[in-house]
Amino acid sequence: MEMPSFQSIQFTDQLPLQAQLQTHLKDWICEGRLSPGTKLPSSRRLSAELGISRNTVTLVIEQLRAEGFLETFPGKGVYVAKSLPVNIYGIKQIDWQYKKAQAKLSDFANKLASKPLTEHSQTLPFSPGVPDLDAFPFKIWNSLQRQHQMRTCLMGYDGNQGYKPLREALAEYLRLSRGVRCHSNQIIITQGAQQAISLCAQILINEGDDVLIENPGYMGAKKAFRARGATLTPCQLSENGLDINSLVAISHKTRPYKLMYCTPTHQYPLGGILPATDRLKLLDWAAQNNTWIIEDDYDSEFHFHHKPVAALQGMAKNTPVIYMGSFSKTLFPALRLGYLVVPEELADTFVKAKSFMSGESPLLPQAVIADFIHDGHFIRHLRRMRQLYQEKWHHLNQLIQDILKNKVTIIAKSAGMHLAVEIPHCDDKHLSIVLKEKGFGSSPLSSYYLDKSKMTGLVLGFANTSQQQRENLVAMLSNLIDKDL
Ligand SMILES: Cc1ncc(COP(=O)(O)O)c(C=O)c1O
Repeated sequence: MEMPSFQSIQFTDQLPLQAQLQTHLKDWICEGRLSPGTKLPSSRRLSAELGISRNTVTLVIEQLRAEGFLETFPGKGVYVAKSLPVNIYGIKQIDWQYKKAQAKLSDFANKLASKPLTEHSQTLPFSPGVPDLDAFPFKIWNSLQRQHQMRTCLMGYDGNQGYKPLREALAEYLRLSRGVRCHSNQIIITQGAQQAISLCAQILINEGDDVLIENPGYMGAKKAFRARGATLTPCQLSENGLDINSLVAISHKTRPYKLMYCTPTHQYPLGGILPATDRLKLLDWAAQNNTWIIEDDYDSEFHFHHKPVAALQGMAKNTPVIYMGSFSKTLFPALRLGYLVVPEELADTFVKAKSFMSGESPLLPQAVIADFIHDGHFIRHLRRMRQLYQEKWHHLNQLIQDILKNKVTIIAKSAGMHLAVEIPHCDDKHLSIVLKEKGFGSSPLSSYYLDKSKMTGLVLGFANTSQQQRENLVAMLSNLIDKDL
């Protein structure tokens, strides 16, 4: 085969000369234009023909030699490696087709292919679950971050369970403020609540196991249990959250449930608060049926008219409860940090599972949060946010009552960071899309249901909104509902 002309190589200004020459030579070798055993011109001649420095040519030859494309023999020159396959031309022709390879994915991945991708693609005003980001205490946070970011001990590896000072500070906060009975060795730091739920699903559920879940309930939990192959049974709600009587009734009729996911201190998304007697009944039911309870305490810090309701986990000395929380709402979602409190006997198993699933959690933000809690900033921040969210809640409530009074019904109780409103007979999924096009986030209420007993309406996160945005949203909603959208 004839040696290609090196002078035909056209260099551009876009990339370094070395990278361009390297790609050209590699392509010629792979395409078979320079076949194995071919002798290359000397570096002096190549540099003259190409009009580039000899040093650049030498560096390219050295790199291609290290990669195995060329070989050099002292006193003889540079050759295309003889050991390369003769049909190397074929390498360029590899015809890998994804469609054929897809058949080789796991059953889990194939199941995912048929599901829509639901993501928090954008943080918009009224997107549920987003705290008031403008009110975040940046100065304090940044100063703590500066103190920690030069510490080399935070730049290496640490335990999978989570940074010990954070677990200690958190254990104290959870004991004092949330009534959780725990020690730092029962806490596992996770990548948000989502990883916490997935870990529970992995450790407590086998494929085909029955799981009870509030209906309507948190979509993230449904996804995690379904991904594990659980069979989900919707659990009815009463005005105050879980309907304990119907829970007792279904569990008499069928085989035992392995696990129940619930939000007893503030039902998500409808907002009921389970009274103490019902919470005790729930614990009793779980203990008798040998059913694990996953208690998602996602926003109980923000009750407006009374102190936060204490966690189910701590209502008795020993409870079959795995408690989980997240810094997404108390600090900010992009931290991607949450936590689990598990019975002491299970802590090691959770830590091992986490080490396989994700490895450790980022250390620097954990150290910052540890100080933020320890120095009292966390409690002060929560107090300020509670006051702020209460004002926003009142404002939005009032606007809805004044402007949308015959069109929507407010469901959620006075707590938290979102308001659920029922809008009867509406295509809430479409309504939510239209609102998104106009710059407002929301979630369609019907999408929180497991079965057909759907209420239609919207879940509106009000924490990350301004007065003007609340007024605009309510005016726009009024318009859209009138137009039957
Ligand atoms: C019920 C519930 N649990 C937990 C979370 C927090 O999830 P994560 O920590 O993965 O952000 C949310 C967030 O919206 C939620 O609504």
